Amino acid sequence: MGCDRADYGKLTCMRREMELALGERLLSKIQEGPTPAAKPFKPIDAKIYVDEANHREEVALIASNPVAALAASELAEAGDFVTLELAGTPLIVTRDQDGQVRAMHNVCAHRGSTVEPRNSGSARIFSCGFHGWSYNLDGSLRAVSAASLYSSEPCTSGLRQLPCEQRHGIIWVTPNQASTISVTDWLGPELDEMFSELGLAEMTHYATEEFNLNCNWKLLTDGFLEIYHLKYLHRNSIAPFFPAHLTLSDRYGRHFANWVPKNRLVTALTERPRDQWPVLDHVTGAFVLVPGTVVQWQAGHVELFSLRPHPTDPTRSTARLTMLVPTTRLTETDLWDRNWLRVCQTIPEEDFAAAVGVAHNINCGAVNQLRIGANEHQIVEHLAALQTQP
Ligand code: FES
Ligand SMILES: [Fe+2]
Repeated sequence: MGCDRADYGKLTCMRREMELALGERLLSKIQEGPTPAAKPFKPIDAKIYVDEANHREEVALIASNPVAALAASELAEAGDFVTLELAGTPLIVTRDQDGQVRAMHNVCAHRGSTVEPRNSGSARIFSCGFHGWSYNLDGSLRAVSAASLYSSEPCTSGLRQLPCEQRHGIIWVTPNQASTISVTDWLGPELDEMFSELGLAEMTHYATEEFNLNCNWKLLTDGFLEIYHLKYLHRNSIAPFFPAHLTLSDRYGRHFANWVPKNRLVTALTERPRDQWPVLDHVTGAFVLVPGTVVQWQAGHVELFSLRPHPTDPTRSTARLTMLVPTTRLTETDLWDRNWLRVCQTIPEEDFAAAVGVAHNINCGAVNQLRIGANEHQIVEHLAALQTQP
């Protein structure tokens, strides 16, 4: 991390200023207590979670924006690769000989076979098992096998490249080849700086799990946009660590942030002088990046959620959950194993399970509308943000 937390008194870095300002805002929020937003909200038409035309537009929207494909540290060395599907397209994401990250179609330029069948690994070249064409790590065509027998002019373009960028310790891929938006522009300057100050780029991949879920992808996002459910759905897991119904909600352009204080925050701050406040040790911050990515800051580690709609079916989605830990503390495996267990017990078994239950009831026609309280206003604003994307 950017600052040495054992030495607060001498710190002047921007992260400390950001942390102390956050502490002040959280203390006033706690004093003020939970406050509902002023305006009432119309119920959400449940069709938004099943409509196929709307789904096509959302899939296209996600494909035109950066998608958190994996943690940059999953590709530590040149030749490390992961294969995955984004927006229905099979991809190889790798690091080439020059250290540059690459995302390219995992589809052979010859007759369309899958080039790399493994989920992940390390390669010197990529070689298609069908007729033996091979590709360099940057996707360029390396060799056509038995070239003298192959009578046509071979394709020289290699594997089709997609926009791909490493920023904040994450590899972002934009599935729509024609899209030109950079991650910095997409995040906006404030959030880009916030992620720099939180030291995301100095974190390392610890664990990943992927979940195929029978629910619309937005029902997964909705769970990060309100804390109303925390006291009830999470009563047997994380609820005892947080005061009920308290959150500090921010917007960063199209994106959302929710800072949730832990019970111990007030004591931790009031028993120390301001310049020693350990604010980030006692909060959770959920950043919902529109569309489809959630970065959840926890004291100690970060959870990255890539929420991916099924390419054609609005009632199915995939959630890829990755835990990142500070690189300097990677060896504290007992702690990270405990945290990973808690994350897996809380989010998939409680949040995702609740979303799948709601989806079932919507899909069978038993739900026509979802009622939205003032404390759930970000869900409505998120739907609006999806409609007004560039
Ligand atoms: S399809 Fe790959 S070499 Fe023929
Ligand atoms: Fe939750």
